[in-house]
Amino acid sequence: MPVQDADLVVVSNRGPLTIDADEEGEDRYQRGGGGLVSGMQTALSESPGAVWVCAAMRERERSIARGASGHRLSSVPPAAEALHGDFDVVMLPIDAPTYRAAYNGIANATLWFVLHMLFDSPRRPVFDARWRRQWAAYQRYNLAFAETVTQIAADNGTVMVQDYHLFLLPALIRRQRPDLRIGFFTHTPWVGPDYFSALPADVCRELLEGVSGADVVGFHTRRWADDFEACCESLLGARSRARVEVFGLRTDARELNARAHRRDVESALRDLNVAVGDRLVVGRVDRAELSKNVLRGLLAFRELLVRYSEWQGRVVHIVFDNPSREDLVEYRDYTRDVQELAENINDELGTEDWTPVLLSIEHDYPAALATLRRSDVLLVNPIRDGMNLVIFEGIVLSERSAVAVVSENAGAAEVLGSDALLVNPFDVSQTADALHRALSMPVDERAARTVGLRAAATQLPPTAWFAAQLEVVRDSDSVSG
Ligand code: F6P
Repeated sequence: MPVQDADLVVVSNRGPLTIDADEEGEDRYQRGGGGLVSGMQTALSESPGAVWVCAAMRERERSIARGASGHRLSSVPPAAEALHGDFDVVMLPIDAPTYRAAYNGIANATLWFVLHMLFDSPRRPVFDARWRRQWAAYQRYNLAFAETVTQIAADNGTVMVQDYHLFLLPALIRRQRPDLRIGFFTHTPWVGPDYFSALPADVCRELLEGVSGADVVGFHTRRWADDFEACCESLLGARSRARVEVFGLRTDARELNARAHRRDVESALRDLNVAVGDRLVVGRVDRAELSKNVLRGLLAFRELLVRYSEWQGRVVHIVFDNPSREDLVEYRDYTRDVQELAENINDELGTEDWTPVLLSIEHDYPAALATLRRSDVLLVNPIRDGMNLVIFEGIVLSERSAVAVVSENAGAAEVLGSDALLVNPFDVSQTADALHRALSMPVDERAARTVGLRAAATQLPPTAWFAAQLEVVRDSDSVSG
């Protein structure tokens, strides 16, 4: 039976389950990764009857979704078992070439690069005939979501659309179902009109008008909301018809602590303690992602060891990189550069009993949580970041009142303010100085900062974050509805 009459529909590219094959070739159901998925999963635990519409991202998911009644995962027993929460999941089996062009070519290699200012402008972007074909795929991908969402949403229901994969969706839904209330949330940063308008003019328009089809458009911080409004004013010649609001997602301390004290994390922490002994730890956990700026983080750590040589032998930099978007050559190249630089630092400065950089490029959630628990300093220096939830998780989990060294271009900087040490992500020397200051900070100052950091990191946990958005969306007077 296809789903119908859903009062609340959440829509995102990545869903709460990934399905791949284990070593024996059997289907393996795992929790989807990333900030959006974990935040939304917690939020939906208090929305019984909701439906989450997402894309099948790989072949195995496509074939399971095609075989499921109405693409509903609850009709596939092992998937239903793996889902946590009282909501159903509809997975769209969009054809592989369309999906790849929309996800890799447009969402990740174009829109993500624009929003995080990652282009190497003498070479990229190039908007040519090939790119236009990818753009047509992105339009088809958004249309496929619109078709499903408009079929399953109840009269006067609410639809909450997430992120840059689906920028065109709010306007597409509105056109067909003006009775619906539509919220759109952007988990990424936004950029000012000068940078955004690198995109072709018709594409800028379609994207901004697409998002503005929502009743309420949400951002993590005021800075990104202002950039979006400036783009609308400059490139559409008018303010967005949507109400633009700020809802800054934070972390759920109770849930996180419960997970981070399970047996698998305790065991990972014991291993970590054997590896680092009583040395101080500068820790970081990221997706292996260009915008996270791990390379400059490593350069700063090397400069710290050279300019403040008293730290040699006394501190270890633990870098946890979860593999991500490996279909894109830029990501594969960047990860290789990170590996090479870590090896160079270890060859250049390490000794027989001290390895300065411990780098892991793998998915190992328990070991990542153990790293956060063991960190004395947390380094989060993204080039740009919508919020950065990992810094909040580190602040909650650190058992050593970790000092937070944070990029001023992460949304989290606006939230943490002067309780963190803020750095320009391009300024490696300033970051090295901040690491020195953090490592040298007196205990009472660390403790005082931790009080403020913890309060900020937990202020709007996922359930409250989502409830606040729903309230505003449901109260909104739809312009055309
Ligand atoms: O920052 C936006 C975001 O959706 C994050 O919430 C998430 O970690 C990341 O992008 C996921 O990217 P992908 O689904 O491509 O792995």
